[in-house]
Amino acid sequence: MSHSHEKVETNVGLMAVLIAVAVSFGGLAEIVPLMYQAETIEPLPGVKPYPPLELAGRDVYIREGCYNCHSQMVRTLRFETERYGHYSLAGESVYDRPFQWGSKRTGPDLARVGGRYSDDWHRVHLINPRDVVPESNMPGFPWLATARVEGALVEKKMKALQSIGDPYTDEEIAGARGAVAGKSELDAVVAYLQGLGRHAPRGGE
Ligand code: HEC
Repeated sequence: MSHSHEKVETNVGLMAVLIAVAVSFGGLAEIVPLMYQAETIEPLPGVKPYPPLELAGRDVYIREGCYNCHSQMVRTLRFETERYGHYSLAGESVYDRPFQWGSKRTGPDLARVGGRYSDDWHRVHLINPRDVVPESNMPGFPWLATARVEGALVEKKMKALQSIGDPYTDEEIAGARGAVAGKSELDAVVAYLQGLGRHAPRGGE
């Protein structure tokens, strides 16, 4: 017994391997159950993959780096739920690839922003935030108003998401080009923002 212990203590390679094994048990015990726990992998009632225009808006959101200043996760803390609404649940973001939870909050969390302002407010705000929030230091994104959403690309993305398991129907994919025809990237981002938090449980806590 003491002999084998000495072997481990005098062989740094063996020790490293055994430490890795010991530590990984801790990780496995935390991570593996999450892969089977329904509430972390199943959508909340009503949660569906993004409709074409919102999907396009989500990609603009990522491209423009909105996540550098905005998180999309309300934490389970009183001052957060008082300000934003119900704390975020895993089942809301099962179709978010990649998820936009984030942690950087130069601006407010956006997980519950849907429906808080009118479409027009968002349009003005995104083109020049200071027109509606004079003290804002958010940059303007005026080019979104003239850039068009590319229907063929949206259709391709929906097909890709379908192939990895998102339950888009073939009809939904076939209708994608029509749904985004003539829409600007600004329309898309606004649609995306207005959808955020749509399936959140109501009430502050
Ligand atoms: C450099 C940091 C920064 C970036 C990048 C940024 N924002 Fe903001 N955002 C802010 C700040 C600060 C505020 C708060 C002041 C205001 O309302 O303008 C804000 C406010 C908002 C609000 C209003 C939220 C509320 O609850 O009142 C929305 C919606 C929003 N941003 C969307 C976006 C979108 C969409 C993008 C990307 C196209 C973006 N932001 C990029 C900093 C940023």
